Amino acid sequence: MAAASTVLLVACGGPTDPGERVFLRKCAGCHGRDGRGRTRIGATHPEADLAAGVLRHGEDFESIRRIIARGNPGSPMPAYEGRLSPAEIDAVTRYVEELPARARPTPAPEAAVPR
Ligand code: HEC
Repeated sequence: MAAASTVLLVACGGPTDPGERVFLRKCAGCHGRDGRGRTRIGATHPEADLAAGVLRHGEDFESIRRIIARGNPGSPMPAYEGRLSPAEIDAVTRYVEELPARARPTPAPEAAVPR
């Protein structure tokens, strides 16, 4: 799926995935456009790297969604419940799930093979 949406993205010249739109608008300032956390916040909060393939708060959909909805009081991570619609939180949760795959330096093999 990530490969297909990347192709779409390139073709349209902008994010078509609602999760990606939310991420770039609300999250990239701290987590970086690629989720690697290479930002001013990330410099002092290495745990803001969402693309390393390790999530301290859990890597299943429900765990990721929970930290996005509730935030982490005591860290800069804000709570988005009430600031984003439930559908937007779902979409950006799926986008975060895909970040490690997207952050790979080389495209997935199926992306290189024309069908
Ligand atoms: C003001 C900076 C900031 C913004 C904006 C922000 N985050 Fe975070 N986020 C952080 C920091 C710092 C952490 C690490 C704190 C922690 O893991 O407890 C974090 C943690 C997380 C985690 C958990 C990481 C783990 O290791 O389990 C997820 C998932 C996450 N953010 C997603 C998002 C999403 C999605 C958005 C946008 C809707 C967003 N964040 C917006 C700063 C931010």
